[in-house]
Amino acid sequence: MCGIIGYVGNKEVVPVLINGLRKLEYRGYDSAGITVLNKNKLILHRCAGKLINLEQELQKFLIRGKIGLGHTRWATHGKPTRENAHPHTDCKGNFVVVHNGIIENYLTLRKKLVKEGHKFNSDTDTEVIAHLIEKYFKGDLLKATQRAVKDLKGSYALGVISTLYPGKIVAARHGSPLIVGISEKENFIASDVSAILAYTKKVISLEDGETAILDFKGVKFFNSCDREIHKNSRTIEWDPMMAEKGGYKHFMLKEICEQADVVRDTLRGRICLEKGGVFLEEEIGWKKEEIDEISRIFIVACGTSYHSGLIGKYVLEDFAKIPCEVDLASEFRYRNPLLRKGDLVVVVTQSGETADTLAALREAKKKKVKTLAICNVMDSSIAQECDYVVYTRCGLEVGVASTKAFMGQLVVLYLLGLYFAKFRKSLSILRIKQIISALLELPVKIEKTIEMQDIIRDYAHRFFRKSDFLYLGRNVNYPIALEGALKLKEIAYIHAEGYAAGEMKHGPIALIDENMPILVIANQGKVYDKILSNIKEVKARDGIVIVLATKGDRKIAKEVEDVFYLPKTLEILTPFLNVIPLQFLAYYIALKRGCDVDQPRNLAKSVTVE
Ligand code: M6R
Repeated sequence: MCGIIGYVGNKEVVPVLINGLRKLEYRGYDSAGITVLNKNKLILHRCAGKLINLEQELQKFLIRGKIGLGHTRWATHGKPTRENAHPHTDCKGNFVVVHNGIIENYLTLRKKLVKEGHKFNSDTDTEVIAHLIEKYFKGDLLKATQRAVKDLKGSYALGVISTLYPGKIVAARHGSPLIVGISEKENFIASDVSAILAYTKKVISLEDGETAILDFKGVKFFNSCDREIHKNSRTIEWDPMMAEKGGYKHFMLKEICEQADVVRDTLRGRICLEKGGVFLEEEIGWKKEEIDEISRIFIVACGTSYHSGLIGKYVLEDFAKIPCEVDLASEFRYRNPLLRKGDLVVVVTQSGETADTLAALREAKKKKVKTLAICNVMDSSIAQECDYVVYTRCGLEVGVASTKAFMGQLVVLYLLGLYFAKFRKSLSILRIKQIISALLELPVKIEKTIEMQDIIRDYAHRFFRKSDFLYLGRNVNYPIALEGALKLKEIAYIHAEGYAAGEMKHGPIALIDENMPILVIANQGKVYDKILSNIKEVKARDGIVIVLATKGDRKIAKEVEDVFYLPKTLEILTPFLNVIPLQFLAYYIALKRGCDVDQPRNLAKSVTVE
């Protein structure tokens, strides 16, 4: 997730771009850059790190101009360096591009362009776009961009300007957000309205496949067949804070609602149904023998990342048939783990900076075993120190309660399981294809689940005064019970426990009375009947039961009144859907109790102390 802004009008462009980038910095802050077109000359400034670095650099120059583009980056392809910072240019520096999204086929395009004589200056996927536009330019920037995007696979929101086509910005969108802001004698493009709200409230959203061309007088829109279309504007009534959160009340809510895109983006370019496989060669690239050599996997993490690791154990053992242990990072390093040749240590972390996880990684490295990180923040300490990294593509997670990062971690763990299974032949090709196709269907099912959040809000309004909650799950959904309980504890300050449902009879059942809400995860599958028995046990003790069940399950409706039905998917994939209502439940209960959802007391986003 990056942020882009473009301006053409009668104001000096630099302050407009910088103000806009300040509002967009929540989308990423690995690097920032601007380009300004002045008398057919392109001025380009880029800096690694936060926007402040760019601002300090710009103070040394007097840059004038009325048209330009800006970008703030959340790195996905290529390290967060100055060279990889946007904007990117073609060979001769005539075409400049800012981009938000992921170009899946950039390696193929890059190879082809290099053969044709193009010279590349960065490791980014974005740079191919500038070279494609250069290749297709025959005097018309709009046409060249429209032609170039036809070669792209993946997602993009683009802003393009050119010395050979002064006074115009060309914009294009597919799969990443882009809006056009309309005003008197000035027009804008931006990743979201927060960037331009200080100048205009009149906006038009570009839809997938659409392009636009802007100058200071107006904007023209084109559909995916490059035919000119009319689009109506809307007026935004949000205040600036709301705009930064995309109109959501809290970052946490926004991030829960972004999870379908997280799955899409994290799968992008790594999975293919036709080829029946998972492709992590770019990130891992181990030979078959190396994968065969892995005899044990240790997953190490903290908090929510630990819970995704627990699910990873079920998945890796089921898919790859490799024995797997999961450790809390704070325990792993002090228990003198018996690591040996053939072991793989996988650390899971959103921030890549968690002190306990970093220390556990160093412990593993000391013992000379292979290490791999599943991480969201590019070039973070853990990403740098690990032998291999597979990045989740969640964009910046602001809410202290981790939600979308968990989703991204699950995706990578499942991909890893399938990747190993492909080489070890531990799953049939048919089963791999079945799982891949179910993974590809997940984003739509996640969207459907999110659409039903009002049902969960009603539960929250009924139960927000309760002081204790129990969460029960079995098998691959036992860690989801733990995660649901953690979410409630950390943002609503309510005592909650997650339990493996089968363990209830060994103790926690004593807690159950008519005041205790119990969330039970009861999807259809191999442990369904067992979970039904657990539900009966709870009901016999007057506990308040709320069940997460599979759509179409009539049996459960006869047992329980409060059932939240989730779309059907493969049993092994149910955690992806089950976690969403539990995130919403914690969110809406916290809201009702007046808690600070995005910054809960005593917690920090990144725990860099032991
Ligand atoms: O950045 P990491 O994934 O390493 O962080 C691990 C935990 O600190 C984190 O998941 C924490 O538990 C969250 N607040 C949970 O919502």
